[in-house]
Amino acid sequence: MQSIPIKNVGTNRLVDKFQREYYYLRLSVTDVCNFKCTYCLPSGYQPPVQKESFLSLDEIRRIVGAFAAMGTEKVRLTGGEPTLRKDFLAIVETISALEGIKKVALTTNGYRMEKDVERWKKAGVSSINVSVDSLDPRQFYSITGENKFHQVMKGIERAFEVGYEKIKVNSVLMKNLNDQEFDRFKNWVKDKPIQMRFIELMQTGEMDQFFNRYHLSGQILAEKLLKEGWILRQKDRTDGPAKVFSHPDYLGEIGLIMPYEKNFCASCNRLRVSAKGKLHLCLFGEEGVDLRDLLVSDEQQVILQSRLYAALQGKREHHLLAQGNRGIRTNLASIGG
Ligand code: 5AD
Ligand code: SF4
Repeated sequence: MQSIPIKNVGTNRLVDKFQREYYYLRLSVTDVCNFKCTYCLPSGYQPPVQKESFLSLDEIRRIVGAFAAMGTEKVRLTGGEPTLRKDFLAIVETISALEGIKKVALTTNGYRMEKDVERWKKAGVSSINVSVDSLDPRQFYSITGENKFHQVMKGIERAFEVGYEKIKVNSVLMKNLNDQEFDRFKNWVKDKPIQMRFIELMQTGEMDQFFNRYHLSGQILAEKLLKEGWILRQKDRTDGPAKVFSHPDYLGEIGLIMPYEKNFCASCNRLRVSAKGKLHLCLFGEEGVDLRDLLVSDEQQVILQSRLYAALQGKREHHLLAQGNRGIRTNLASIGG
């Protein structure tokens, strides 16, 4: 593998006007996905008319190198489905080798996990989030468009076997669809070191009536958990915006991700880069700042880091969802949720 000459060329750390420091980068490495989740890509991935390539391994090294030099410690690889990239292992190895990077996390739909998780671990994937929207194989199929429930479940077992101590499982709970499974999910993690994360459905541009029909407020779930004796845990510096609950009778934990909640943004510690090299300051709204012209050579690090810093100074304190500005994205597959 190539050595990594990237150095901290400036003195700037990634701090915004509200003194939030960004330790965490979510990097999408492809828009392509082989699942067709009803809330994300109901008709599957459609290649755009004007093809633009996804970030190359060298471009990824330069981007993450710049972030790392400015204080980023954790990178999450997302997609689409990141493991569809043929050079996925090389991406992980390259990022893990960068100075300052302590964690390389992966968000996956899990379809390759049983086969490949051991290789992921060896390459340097330090933690895994996998989506499981239902514990019922038929419901899983109807939500994801893929009959891969058992495969994903075996993948989770395999991940524990190869040495992951804890796995995070994501589920988008939807009204009258899979919300009846709330208790079932809880029982499932009773004796497993799984953090079960319920993600509130977010509205995207490809949704029509879907959002109004299925959106379920996470607040209701939080109240339920508190009544049942679950305790809200204190946050860690690099924790995301999930509210994490634990319970003395359960080995697993429950996380709630409620983007429509008032204070959701106060703990925002993440920036996003899309698979086509745009910096996104927030999941919602805004166009994104193109970085690609500064990813051509290692010589451009100074100016790349300056652009990152300058862009960050434009980050708002809150998203404007509550004010009716829904900042709708077409779907979340290009920016990795
Ligand atoms: N609302 C909430 N979560 C979503 N995801 C994708 N689209 C949406 C949406 N509209 C989540 C998936 C997956 C993660 C990558 O993003 O559930 O766990
Ligand atoms: Fe693919 Fe994830 Fe979107 Fe489902 S939510 S279609 S697995 S990118």
